[in-house]
Amino acid sequence: MVIIDSAKCIGCGQCAPDCFNHNLKPVGGKMTVKRACMECGHCIAICPTEAISLDDYPAQPLYPYDPAAMQIAPENLLRFIQFRRSCRRFVDRKVERSKLALMLEAGRFTATGANLQDVSFSVIQDSLPQFKALCWESLHHVTAAAARGELAATDPTASNYARLWQRSYEKYQLDPANPENDAMFFNAPAVIVVKGRFAQHAELVASNVELMAYTQGLACLFTGFVRRSVLYGSKVQDFLGMDGKEFVLCMLVGYPAQTYRRTVPRKALQADWL
Ligand SMILES: Cc1cc2nc3c(=O)[nH]c(=O)nc-3n(C[C@H](O)[C@H](O)[C@H](O)COP(=O)(O)O)c2cc1C
Repeated sequence: MVIIDSAKCIGCGQCAPDCFNHNLKPVGGKMTVKRACMECGHCIAICPTEAISLDDYPAQPLYPYDPAAMQIAPENLLRFIQFRRSCRRFVDRKVERSKLALMLEAGRFTATGANLQDVSFSVIQDSLPQFKALCWESLHHVTAAAARGELAATDPTASNYARLWQRSYEKYQLDPANPENDAMFFNAPAVIVVKGRFAQHAELVASNVELMAYTQGLACLFTGFVRRSVLYGSKVQDFLGMDGKEFVLCMLVGYPAQTYRRTVPRKALQADWL
C-alpha cells in the first residue's frame, strides 16, 4: 500500500499525473491515496521530498537520479547484444555467488504486467550433480512418447528432438561424469531456473538476467532441453520446490571457454513501419 508522509508532503501534486491508476488526489494541501494500487512506485520515483513509500516491501536502497551512473552508449549496447553468443563450452570454474546475485537483481527489477512481480528463481550450483541426474531421467522418461508424437498438443517440436534425446541419453549413460558426454548441461557449473505465473513475465526477466551475466564475463545457454526436463519431471519439480503451475525458463551459466572474433549474420529485419 502506498503511504504518504504528510509531514514531508508539500502538496506539489507532481505524483498525480504520473499515477496510472489516478489514485492520488490533493486534500487540504497534501496528497492522499484513494485505494490500493499495483504499487508501480512512480509516485515514489517522482516525489521531490521523499514523502512517499510502500509499507509492505523489505527495506532496500532507493538510488537518486544520477545520469552518470546509467550511461550506456546506444551503439555500445547494440554491439554488446550483437556479440552475445549462446555458450556450450564452459571452463571448469564455479560462478561467484555475487555475480549470480547481480543477475537475479537484474531480474528482480524487470517489468512484469500489472507489476505482479510473480517471478522467482532457483540457482543450482552446489547441488548440480543431483539436479542433472534428475533432469536426464525426466527427459528420458518422455522421449519415447515424444517420438510417437504424443506430446504434440502442448509441445509441437518435441518429436523433432526425440532421436537426439535418445542418443544423448545413451552417451550420457556411458559416463555421466564426463562433460564430453553431456549434451544437456555442457559442463556448465550453474543453472538458473526462472519461474513465473505468466510466460511473458518469466521471459522478460530471463532476458535481463542473461544480459547481466554477459556484463560480468559470464556466458549462458537458454535450454529448452532442461526446461522440458523440469516441465515433464515431477521429481525435478519437487527438487525445485515447484507446484507444477509455473511457467519455466532455464539457463546454463558459466565462464565461456571460447572468445568470438566477430558478430554473425542474421536474417533481414522484419518490421512494418506503419
Ligand atoms: C528459448 C531457447 C531455448 C534454447 N534451447 C536450447 C537447447 O536446449 N540446447 C541448445 O544447445 N541450445 C538451445 N538454445 C540456443 C539456440 O540454439 C541459439 O540461441 C541459437 O542457435 C542462436 O545462437 P546464438 O544464441 O549464439 O546467437 C535455445 C535458445 C533459446 C532462446
